Formats: sequence, C-alpha cells, structure tokens
Amino acid sequence: MKKNILITGGAGFIGSHVVRLFVNKYPDYHIYNLDSLTYAGNLENIKDIEKAPNYTFLKADIKDINQMNTLFKTHQFDAVIHLAAESHVDRSIKDPNAFIETNVLGTANLLNAFRNTWQDNYTDKLFYHVSTDEVYGSLGKTGLFEETTSYDPQSPYAASKASSDHMVRSFGNTYGLPFVISNCSNNYGANQFPEKLIPLFINNIQNGKALPVYGDGQYTRDWLFVDDHAKAIDTIFHQSELGETYNIGGFNEWTNLDLIKILCELMDEKLQKPKGDSAKLITYVKDRAGHDRRYAIDATKLNKDLGWYPSVTFEEGLSKTIDWYLENTKWLDNVTSGSYQDYYKKMYS
Ligand code: NAD
Ligand code: TYD
Repeated sequence: MKKNILITGGAGFIGSHVVRLFVNKYPDYHIYNLDSLTYAGNLENIKDIEKAPNYTFLKADIKDINQMNTLFKTHQFDAVIHLAAESHVDRSIKDPNAFIETNVLGTANLLNAFRNTWQDNYTDKLFYHVSTDEVYGSLGKTGLFEETTSYDPQSPYAASKASSDHMVRSFGNTYGLPFVISNCSNNYGANQFPEKLIPLFINNIQNGKALPVYGDGQYTRDWLFVDDHAKAIDTIFHQSELGETYNIGGFNEWTNLDLIKILCELMDEKLQKPKGDSAKLITYVKDRAGHDRRYAIDATKLNKDLGWYPSVTFEEGLSKTIDWYLENTKWLDNVTSGSYQDYYKKMYS
C-alpha cells in the first residue's frame, strides 16, 4: 500500500537505522526523514540511501509549529514515526530547557500538525512515538519495568520524555488520534554519538584517554543492539493494535563496570594490545547527579503478542559495534572535532 511516512530524527543514531530499514524494505512507502541536524544529527549516517527513489530529506525543526504545519500540509503524512529528541541525560542536567523545548513542545507540535492535516478523520493513519524506559525511574536490586509500571522520571531528560508520552496519550484520549508508544532500554551499535557510554569508551581507548566511570560503577542498564530496536519498531508499526504500549529490551542486564571490563578485553584483542592494557584507563570520577541505579525491561508482551525477540547476543553486538568504530575512524574524527571538544572539557575536566 502506498504511504507517505514521516520519520523524525532520522539523521541521529537510532533514527538512521530505522530510516534505512524502512527505505530498503518498503519500496511502496515514501520515507520523509525530518531532522534539524543538531550536534547529534549527521547525514553521513544515511549516505547509503540518500539517492533512493522513495526517500526525501527535510531539514526542519520540530520546535517550529509553522514549519511543521506547512510540511504536513504539503506531504500529507499518513504516518509518523517520531524519534527526534534531545537524548543525553548529562546534557539534560546542564540545560533542562532545551529538553523541554524539543521533547515536549516539539512532540506537541507534531501532534497538532497531524491533527490539523487529518481533521480528526484518521482511517489508516498512525502516530508512533518512540520513547525510553527512563520514564519509569529507577529500580532496586530486583523487579522489571512492565508496560503498567507507573511513571517516575528522575532526570530532566526522563521527565521530558515522560511528558511527551503523556501528550501523545492525551491526544489519543481527547481527539481519537491513533497512536502507539514503545519504551526501549539502552541502545548500542554503529553511528552512536560518542557522548554515550559505549562509543565514548571505544573512542577513548583508541586515543589512550581515561575511561570516566561515574560513582562506584555498579549502575545497571539493559542493553539492546540498535538493529534489533529498528526491527521492533517495524514490527510494532505494522502489527500493533492502536493505543498500545510496548516495552522493548534486550533481556540483557549489565553493571557498568562488568560491561566496561568486557569492552576493554575486546578492545585489547582487536587492537592487539597486551591483555589488561585498556582496563588500566579506567578512572573513577564524580557521580552523575541523580543517577538512576538500575533499569531493566520486561519485553515479554512484545515477544508474546508480536513474536519479536532480540536477534543478536551481547557479545556479537558489542564485537560488531567495536569493528564499526575501528573501521570508521573518519566518521569519529568528524563528529569529535569542533564543539565536541568543548563539550568534553565541560563534562570531564
Ligand atoms: P540522537 O541524539 O542520536 O538523535 C536525535 C536526532 O534528533 C538527531 O538527528 C537530531 O539532529 C534530531 N533532533 C534533535 N532535536 C531536533 C529538533 N528540534 N527538530 C528536528 N530534529 C531534531 O538520539 P537517539 O539515541 O537516536 O534516540 C532517538 C530516540 O529514541 C529519542 O526519542 C530517544 O529518546 C529514544 N531512545 C533512545 C535510546 C538510546 O539508548 N539511545 C533508548 C530508548 C529510546
Ligand atoms: P549513557 O550511555 O549516558 O546512557 P543512560 O544514562 O541513558 O543510561 O550511560 C550509561 C551508563 O553509563 C549510566 O549508568 C551512566 C554511565 N556512564 C559513565 O559511567 N561514564 C560516562 O562517561 C558516561 C557517558 C556514562
């Protein structure tokens, strides 16, 4: 079926994998990738598909309601897959308002533009909102986040994503806007900006720089390979009932320190360094303010209802990810020049 699909944030990490999957897998869909190209957006991430006949890039800012209304009117998007966001917790601690503007107001702008276009006649239409497990807050030693877990966001980033989830549900309830939401755990893989743990540490090991471990390193995250997240979004987009929420996770919990140790071992092997060399760079630094202790997702509903399960083990995914960064040094050099150096100094010196 022919459809115009808007994917926001498609020049970022996860968005680029989703755009590629949809452009290649669905020749009948026209994919519009809307991105304002912040520090985290990079057209190099999707260079391989930029000339595809079913692909158009739109440089635009979701904070600008007039721009959104015009683009929606022009292209009549049947469906939206919304990933554009400010996405890094540490940046949200330094500048919360940027997160409120893009994540809350930007999402409301898209919802309003979608309503304005379809005038509340929504046959075969869908607004898919991509969110995070961080909306649920922090877990103790046991327990898992389920779709019914109460929201309890603890960082400005998490609070802004929680607000955007609430806006989407409220438009569903009030105006009958057809939506689905997924809340995913920590992603890793190719093209992730090196401010997040795994690419930051790969880059630092390559450059012989300290590996800054926040606090005691005993914080726990559930890691999912980014291609598996993109496949889950494809599955939910095509198979979910309207109004549903799905948690997406890797069934793959690690403390930061255990993960870092494996990463160091793999880097020693791949860079042919003496065993234990990379781990010598581990440096304990001041903890992140309000640091969530543990995230863990129960993705059983997605598995039972729609048959999705991660396809890649953590060891495979991590190995592929490291190989990608070692093979794409030019990409890393480009994104770590300029403003990245200022960010790094402010964060870590
Ligand atoms: P990212 O920071 O790599 O990419 C975000 C993209 O959005 C960039 O291309 C950026 O240019 C664009 N963008 C930012 N502000 C914009 C604006 N005002 N207008 C238009 N475009 C704008 O983020 P990511 O890690 O790929 O995350 C994508 C989505 O997935 C986010 O909504 C995030 O909350 C969610 N998520 C991320 C993770 C994760 O581990 N990275 C986990 C779960 C959910
Ligand atoms: P991050 O990749 O920023 O994702 P999130 O905060 O969304 O979970 O961080 C993952 C974990 O790694 C988190 O517990 C914070 C920790 N961390 C460090 O110890 N050092 C760092 O330099 C960074 C960026 C993160």
